[in-house]
Amino acid sequence: MRSDFAGTTAQYYAGFRRDLPADQTALLVAAAGLRADDIALDLGCGTGQLAVPLAQHCAAVVAIDPEPDMLAGLRARRAERVVCVLGDDRDLPVLAVPFAAPIGLVTIGNALHWMDERSTLRAAAALVRQGGAVAVVTQGPPLWLGRAPWQRTVREALESLYGPVTGNCRTDSTALEERRATAAELGLATEVLTWTAEYPVTVDWVIGHLGSALGGDKLSRVEELTVLLEPLRGEPMVEEVTTSVLVVRRHE
Ligand SMILES: C[S@@+](CC[C@H](N)C(=O)[O-])C[C@H]1O[C@@H](n2cnc3c(N)ncnc32)[C@H](O)[C@@H]1O
Repeated sequence: MRSDFAGTTAQYYAGFRRDLPADQTALLVAAAGLRADDIALDLGCGTGQLAVPLAQHCAAVVAIDPEPDMLAGLRARRAERVVCVLGDDRDLPVLAVPFAAPIGLVTIGNALHWMDERSTLRAAAALVRQGGAVAVVTQGPPLWLGRAPWQRTVREALESLYGPVTGNCRTDSTALEERRATAAELGLATEVLTWTAEYPVTVDWVIGHLGSALGGDKLSRVEELTVLLEPLRGEPMVEEVTTSVLVVRRHE
């Protein structure tokens, strides 16, 4: 079966999903205790939104994703010290075997909701060296659920084409608390970091970003969406994005 992330979706991903900013990457690296001689695994890597900035901070990033088109998009970036692997959350236990350097960090960016959350957290925590960490990175709210007036226009346009859009991809505080509780049940320690950033956006960027989020059949209506968003053209638009990082580690 074709995945929700194949083809055009992966292309929109490469063009219209932001990398974790350098300042947030540095804070994540410090909180996780990632060392320059560590390996990091980025599970559900997409086109490299975490893998590429993280590679500046460690010996190599092993970027793992089940969607070949996402990996092709990441390969096309020619990032140094990033290795692409076709795989998914069920491959984590096997990954304990092949590396000469220790795994200091496993990142999962905007992707844990696609996985078996409990077994993924357990397997990822078991992979990292003593003192290492798992970081579940979540950015939200989704652009169409934001509070700004232009975001309400986007939401109304989406709803007129596709019906109610309520899915938040588990970017809310309930999901964060559930994940914390799951980690605690697994006997793992947790810490939460939160940062907010503001990004000016254009109508074309918004359409591209929506394209990256509309899987399958919905993509065929992007031209209609473009017409509906035309009134926003020229308006100043700023997207506020909150990044939350659930840092999970074994007790010392
Ligand atoms: C929303 S994208 C996130 C990409 C990137 N990490 C980011 O932060 O923007 C979710 C990614 O998870 C991948 N994915 C879906 N199911 C997965 C699974 N079971 N195991 C690992 N990755 C999975 C998809 O192919 C997709 O590339």
